[in-house]
Amino acid sequence: MKKVITYGTYDLFHEGHYNLLKRAKELGDYLIVGVTSGDFDKNRGKLNVRDSLMTRIKHVEETGFADEIVIEEYFGQKIDDIKKYDVDIFTVGSDWKGHFDYLNEYCEVIYLDRTKGISSTEIRNTNTIKLGCYGVESVTTRFLEESKYVSGINIDAIYVDNESDCFDQLKEQYDFKVYKHQQEFYDAIDAVYIVVEPKYQFKAIVNALKHKKHVLVEFPILVTDEQLQEIIELADANNRIFMEGLKTAYTPAFGKLIALAKSGIIGNILSVDANFTQILGKQLGEQIRLVDGGSVHALASYPFLAFVKLLGLDYKNIQFFSRDDNGIDMFTKMLISYEKAVATSNVAISGKSEGDMVISGDKGYIYVPAPWWKTEYFEVRFEDLNMNRKYFYKFDGEGLRYEISEFIQCILNYKNSILLTIEEIRTITNMINQFNVANKVTF
Ligand code: CTP
Repeated sequence: MKKVITYGTYDLFHEGHYNLLKRAKELGDYLIVGVTSGDFDKNRGKLNVRDSLMTRIKHVEETGFADEIVIEEYFGQKIDDIKKYDVDIFTVGSDWKGHFDYLNEYCEVIYLDRTKGISSTEIRNTNTIKLGCYGVESVTTRFLEESKYVSGINIDAIYVDNESDCFDQLKEQYDFKVYKHQQEFYDAIDAVYIVVEPKYQFKAIVNALKHKKHVLVEFPILVTDEQLQEIIELADANNRIFMEGLKTAYTPAFGKLIALAKSGIIGNILSVDANFTQILGKQLGEQIRLVDGGSVHALASYPFLAFVKLLGLDYKNIQFFSRDDNGIDMFTKMLISYEKAVATSNVAISGKSEGDMVISGDKGYIYVPAPWWKTEYFEVRFEDLNMNRKYFYKFDGEGLRYEISEFIQCILNYKNSILLTIEEIRTITNMINQFNVANKVTF
C-alpha cells in the first residue's frame, strides 16, 4: 500500500485546497493529512487564521479524500510522521517548491501544481478592515511595519492636527491619505488606532466611539476611573470593540507564561517582582512629551498587567516610593499587597534596574529574563535543580503584530479580547490613578 502525506492550514477552505487533496490522494492508496494547530501557525508567523482547528479539520474530512488526519504541532514533526506512519510520498503545492527537498532522505517528495488565482490570504484580504491612525508618534512607524504581517487589514488613512517630525518621516515612507477633518477621516475607516498625548486621549476615544468605530488605544490609558467607565459603556452601547494596545498581553509567550504560572506548577503564587526601567535620552524626548507624568504614567501598565494576570483584580493596598525631580517622577518603586501575595516593581524613565520578572511560589519559581515584556524564553526552577525546565516561544519583530491580529479577530467575532479583558484594563487604569491619591513617599 502506497502511503501519501500532505500538510496545510486549510483556512477558509477553498477550491485550491480541494484540488490539492484530490491529487494527493491519487498519488497513492492511503492519504494522511496534517492540519496545522493554531500555536504552530503563530509560531511560524502565520497570524490571523480565521477558522478554528476543529473547523479546518472538519472541512478536510468533508472532502472524503483523507484516510487519516493528524495535527501538526511542532517544527520537525514531518520527519517524525513520515517515519511513524511509514510514508512513501510527501506532497504539497508548488508554492513550496524546493522547501521540503530535505525530506527526500525519508521518502519521495512531489510538488503538485498550485491552483491559480486563489489562496486563503486572498480571501482574508477581500473583506479587509479599514484601519485609520489617529495621531502620529514614534510608535506609529513600528505599528505600520508590523501590520504588514497581518492579513485582513488595510491602513491608508491618517488623522493629524499638528504635523510632528514623526509625521514627516512617515510621509516619506508610506503612501496614505492625510485627513485634517475628523468627520472625513471617520467616514473613510472602520476602526481606529489612537496614539495621542494623555490630555487628548479621553476626548479622542469618545469621539471615535461616537462615530461607531472600533478602538485600539496605544498604552498607557491615562484617563480617570470615571472616564474609563464612560468609555466602556459607550463602546458597549455602540457595539464596538475597545482594546488597549499593551502589546505584551497579546504575545504568545506571555500567554503561556501566565497559564503555566497559574497551573500550580510552582504552587501558590506568593510574590511577583517585575521591573520596567528606561533612561530616556534626548532623542526620546517625544516619549516624555507623550507621558509627561513620568515613570508610573509612562511604564507602570506593564508590571500592572503581570500583576492583574497573576494575582487577580483585587489588590488590597498600593504604595509608591518616588524619586521626584522638579515635579517629574523619575523613578518609582511600587509595592502592592493582595490577600495572599505581594507584588513589587521598579519603573523609571531616568534610572536602570534589571528588567526581569520573578514569580515566586511555595513549590518553586519562574524566572523570566530581561526584557520580560518581550519574552520568548523563561525557566521554571525548583529547590531540586534536576526538576528545572526551560520554555521557548516565538516572539516576532516588535510584537505589535500579535496585538493587531487580536484586534482584527475581536472585530470579526465581535467579542472583546480575553487576552486583556475590560476588567483588567479597568484595574490597571485604577492602579495608575492611585499614584495621584495613594500613599506616596517622595525622595
Ligand atoms: N494550495 C494549492 N492551491 C492554492 C492554495 C493552496 O494547491 N491555490 C495548496 C498548498 O500548496 C498546500 C495546501 O493547499 O499544499 C494547503 O495550503 P494552505 O497554506 O493551507 O493554503 P493557502 O491558500 O496557500 O493559505 P495562505 O494564503 O494562508 O498561505
